[in-house]
Order: sequence, then structure tokens, then C-alpha cells
Amino acid sequence: MYPPASPALRRPLAVALVVVLCLATALATAVATVTLTRSSAGSPGASAPAPAPAAAAPVTTVAGAELATNAAYQRALAAAPPSGKPKVTVIGTGGTIAGVATSRSSFTDYRAGQIPIADLVAKLQPEIGVVADVETIQFGNKGSGSYTVAEFHALTLAVDKALETSDGVVVTSGTDTMEEFAYWLDLTVRSRKPVVMTGAMRPTAAVSVDGPGVIGADGPANLYNAIALAGSRATSCFGTVLMLGDEFHAARDVTKTSSYRMDTFQTRELGVLGWIDGTNVKVGRAPSRVSMCNNPAKWVTPFDLTTLPATDLPRTEIVYAYQQAGGEGITALAAAGVKGIVTAGTGAGGVSADQSAARTAAAAAGVLFVSTTRTGSGSVYGSTAPPVVAGEDLLPQKARLLLMLSLGFAKGDQAKAAAWVTSIGNPEWSTAGRVAANPAQAPAPAA
Ligand code: SIN
Repeated sequence: MYPPASPALRRPLAVALVVVLCLATALATAVATVTLTRSSAGSPGASAPAPAPAAAAPVTTVAGAELATNAAYQRALAAAPPSGKPKVTVIGTGGTIAGVATSRSSFTDYRAGQIPIADLVAKLQPEIGVVADVETIQFGNKGSGSYTVAEFHALTLAVDKALETSDGVVVTSGTDTMEEFAYWLDLTVRSRKPVVMTGAMRPTAAVSVDGPGVIGADGPANLYNAIALAGSRATSCFGTVLMLGDEFHAARDVTKTSSYRMDTFQTRELGVLGWIDGTNVKVGRAPSRVSMCNNPAKWVTPFDLTTLPATDLPRTEIVYAYQQAGGEGITALAAAGVKGIVTAGTGAGGVSADQSAARTAAAAAGVLFVSTTRTGSGSVYGSTAPPVVAGEDLLPQKARLLLMLSLGFAKGDQAKAAAWVTSIGNPEWSTAGRVAANPAQAPAPAA
């Protein structure tokens, strides 16, 4: 099982995260892809006793001066209240993981959003009860694509409410728009505790909600691992992560790349954050947001949904660019009152001549644009000010959510919204004050 929050485990996890920070800064790169540490404990049987604390795992040594930079973070994690088994809340929203297929061998013919989340968790007992104390909330039970922004708003509040008393939250959803669920929660949840999204590419049960399992269904293992990951607290301060097929990804960067393949979720240029093998949680890198963990006021985004009703979030849409694309789409959206438009441009953000003319006219009428690429990876560079802001490597569907939140919270201040799109949308590791321009001139670490 995954180890509970014993001090013996928290310490290696804390050190692992500190090592992530230190190595990342030393490499002066947007992502750190270094191998860190592994936490492991014994494998449980159905009636296994309470887990023994994990043995302290070897960690990469870091220089004293660098370690001191992050000592406060290490102390904060080490001081978290020991609670024995972690408490994890699983919030169900539906999707294929809650799906019922027409037969045990039907992977594609099924109805999503049928099985209650409490039943899905119950099927994991007694094993999951050894890993964590699990409670469930049925937020909804339908396909991911039919959720509204108002429901996303309510989901954020439900997640934060659950994290007042739980050590971590798992949200299950359909995989089609799971990356949007994940990025929305990443941008809006206030708690620094772990939030893990999961789901499945194959339905769970055949014929009826309590029918036999679909052959090769991935849902049970994904849900088990997601609960274990949330309970391990390995992703504290990471924001929301997405876990499927034993791998977990940063909400901002992950995307669904295949309609049916089980390994559909990929983080194309940056790679996974880590993975789960049996009882081992391996953290290979961390989002740069971790570096602000000690400073909750900086760690959270300005998007506090307790202060803004869903009705104050403006409509934002996406327009796709292609050969000789007409400008009517942009013109019609602007006329319909859409306040922000993301263009999924060709290459490094290109739009057609007609789209460009329509964009100029819509911008003059007060629409804010974010320029992204339809290629699926790579950056769009350029302006950081209205009326057209470069989205860098944000995927269009992620940029659209960020634009909506930025416009809503900026309350008509386009420059402020543009600044948030640029800064919150494109976080990077900062090496300021940590790495000398010329490392040869850096002070020697304390003995
Ligand atoms: C959905 O997104 O709700 C259906 C597809 C899936 O869960 O994989």
C-alpha cells in the first residue's frame, strides 16, 4: 500500500520536493527532469495490518546553501499533523469510469456516467481501506463534455470544501475534457493539498451498474492509484495533477492525444511528473509553482471563486485557423457578446487574411484575443498586451479557460487580464537569487 503520513514518510517526500527545487534551479530550466527518490512500503493483502512506515529512501545530496533556501518548505511539510492513514475524498462526476457497456468485451459500446462513485470505491474494498480512509461525494454522473462553466465553478468550491477536512481529493471525470477539468481546478482551487483527476478509457461494468467487470477495464486500477497518490501527499503544492495508466501529469501541460488508446494522456514536450509502480510513488519533476509553496498568498492565483459568481465569468471561445479560413466565425462571436477569443493558429499562431481582418475589427470592439497554435506543442511568442496576447505553449482549450477567468476577475481591465494570461499561463522556474550568473564565482556551500 502507499505509506500513510507518518513522519518517516513525510520527511523523504519533503526532501524529495526540496531536491526537485534545488536541482531545477541549478539546471536553470523550465522543467527539471531529474530522478529523485522513491518511497516504498510492503504490499498489502486484503486483511493486511496497518502499514509500517516506509524506510527512509536515499536522496540525492544537495549543497547546504541551496538546501537552506528551501528549509522553510521542508519544515512546513514535516510539521503537517500526523493522522495515521490519510483521509481522501473522491468526488465523482461520471465519464467512462462510471460507464456500463453492452457486454464484457464491448470497449466502445457503452453509456458513460452510470455507476455511482460510492459503488466504484466500494469495489476497491477492502484493499483501498488499508491505503486511506475514503469518503465519496457524487457531484454529478454524466459525460465530461456536458459540464458547464457554472458546474466547474461549483466543483472548485466542492473540492476546497472537501480539502478542509481531507488530506487529498480525487476527482473522477470523463477523459474527453478531463484536461480542462484539471486545468480549471489547477487555476481555482485555493488549498495546497493534493488534487488528483482520474478516469478510464474503458467502461467498468457490463450490462448493469452492478454487472460483471469489462475485460481489461482500467478504471479500478486508475481509481486505486489516484487515491493512493492523493493520500501519499507526494503532489502537495503541485496544484492539480492528472493520473491515468500509472502516470501523473501537470494539469497545465497534459492533453488527450488519442480517442481510444489507454495511454492517451501525454505531456508532449515536458513529459510526466512521475509514476506509480505498485507501492512506489516516484516523483521525477515538479511544476514551478512548488517553489511558492511557502508563500500561500503567492501560491494561489487571483481567481478566488468565493468572491465571483459564475454568472460574472464572460463567454470565451476558440476559433480554429486553416487554409483560407473565413472571418465570419470571429465576427459572429464578437456580435454575440463573446469577450475573449483564443485562436488556434497554424504553426506559430498564424490566422488567415480574413480571420486577421475580423480579429482587428473585433478587437476594436473590445474583444481580447489569445494567440495559440493548433500544432499541439511548441510556443507562440509576441505581445503580452491587448488586443492580442501570445499564449506561448498553452493549448487552446487551456488558454480559453484562463482567458475567461482573467477577464472575469479583471472586471473589464484588459491590460490586467492580459498580464494574468501571460504570467499565470506561462509559469517558469526562477533562478533569481539562487544561481550565480557565473557558478565559478558562487560562494562555497557551508560545510
Ligand atoms: C467522457 O469524457 O465523458 C466520455 C469519454 C471518457 O470518459 O473517456
